[in-house]
Amino acid sequence: KGPDLFGENRRNSAGFDLFDVTELSRIAEAREDDFLDRAEPLIAGPLQGGDKHEARNPASGKVIGKVVNASRKDIETALAAAKPWSAPVAKRAAALRRAADLYEDHFGEIFALLAREAGKSLPDAVGELREAVDFLRYYAAEAEKLDAPARGIFTCISPWNFPLAIFTGQIAAALAAGNGVLAKSAETTPLIASFAVRLLHKAGVPASALQLLPGEGRVVGRALTSDPRIGGVAFTGSTATARMIQAAMAETMAPGAPLIAETGGLNAMIVDSTALPEQAVRDIVASAFQSAGQRCSALRCLYVQEDIEPAFRRMLIGAMDELSLGDPWALETDIGPVITEAARGEINAYIAKAREQERVLHALSEPNRGYFVAPTLIKVNSIADLEKEVFGPVLHLATFKAGAVDKVIADVNASGYGLTFGLHTRIDSRVQDVADSIHAGNIYVNRNQIGAIVGSQPFGGEGLSGTGPKAGGPNYLPRFTRPGTAVREA
Ligand code: NAD
Ligand code: ALA
Repeated sequence: KGPDLFGENRRNSAGFDLFDVTELSRIAEAREDDFLDRAEPLIAGPLQGGDKHEARNPASGKVIGKVVNASRKDIETALAAAKPWSAPVAKRAAALRRAADLYEDHFGEIFALLAREAGKSLPDAVGELREAVDFLRYYAAEAEKLDAPARGIFTCISPWNFPLAIFTGQIAAALAAGNGVLAKSAETTPLIASFAVRLLHKAGVPASALQLLPGEGRVVGRALTSDPRIGGVAFTGSTATARMIQAAMAETMAPGAPLIAETGGLNAMIVDSTALPEQAVRDIVASAFQSAGQRCSALRCLYVQEDIEPAFRRMLIGAMDELSLGDPWALETDIGPVITEAARGEINAYIAKAREQERVLHALSEPNRGYFVAPTLIKVNSIADLEKEVFGPVLHLATFKAGAVDKVIADVNASGYGLTFGLHTRIDSRVQDVADSIHAGNIYVNRNQIGAIVGSQPFGGEGLSGTGPKAGGPNYLPRFTRPGTAVREA
């Protein structure tokens, strides 16, 4: 029996059996229901409402809902009404645990929303819901060990690629520590955010302690990161946006207000000649192409030892050919769409340039609808050829000579990013050498490099990939409290 990470002898969320007929029919019912087709600011005061836009299904491009963004007046109303959550920790923890139960009870609606608004495949939706539930229970348990005052009001800004898990994780941590929260959901996923906030309110989180302000980053996000009434910011998104937020906070907020930023990655994997090829190929395909490559943790640059590369590449291409692209809702789908038409255009322009340079080694074909991008393999000399994080199903392949692992590590470290790193080898001493020298938050050996598990695999990067502390780990919650944190003896 391991440590009681989640309190009340709970474990990680058990997940959902998609092959169970009852569960599938509940999901299907949720799909037919046109519930949850609107989102608007959820604030503790009169609502004015700002600009309106339509939510779209990335798999079809069709409109699925109407969204009202927060106006400047709504932001001011929310800031004026925001209050730390002063209830005793036991009460806060109980409400977060109730919210976790409510999330699980409403899995049908949540899966439908994740598929419809974010293009998540069903297995991805299951993983995302489990992570969200784990964050709620884990931070509830962590809060019960803390003895430190809240900071006040936290702004939580999340990305669209984990519209439930990361959105919930930031909020749950800030609330568990006793802060009030102003949450800004990503532009493309407000329906999911709105559903989640309604469940959190239903579970007992007061309206003044959790308010939702959907809208544009440069408007709503900017306002919520440049106001002296904010005590700290939890942000997950691109490195470029984190820099903007850092500058805005420096100009307007108290010097001690923390920025907890989890940002992008240029993640690499090494496969040496002792690796088990079948296992490595399976893990590469999952790491690079699952979620259509729209994970910060995704593998971007694969290094294969030169002597095994030709045979290994043939095996990898064979595995790519087995991938099925299509309706996120279908159980046979491996890969859904990317998030927007603009994202598809940007990724395809990148692939087209590589094609012109005759560097495309292999590409699948994509469905002729919605925002699908064909998984593509591109030849590079090293990670230095990757100018930026291409946020889609694009994998770069480089080779290295036997004995040149140190050079690979030096090149990867020189990118400045440090999120995930993968290693496939049977040489024990190499595992330790690489772990000692690579600059990466999460290092995965002989497995895939995505899907960190809350509680046992705290997740976060270094350098351009984030400030730390790692989400889902014991150092995260204290960052949401004022300095001088004391941890109570059990
Ligand atoms: P993004 O930076 O464009 O947007 C993230 C959030 O920031 C959105 O809610 C957006 O509206 C908001 N925002 C934009 N400009 C802002 C501003 N000036 N002030 C305040 N807020 C602003 O990122 P994205 O495209 O939504 O997400 C993809 C990126 O997120 C990738 O780089 C990915 O690697 C990264 N990511 C990192 C992690 C991690 O844990 N390290 C997890 C998921 C995604
Ligand atoms: N925590 C997510 C993963 O590990 C981003 O893939």
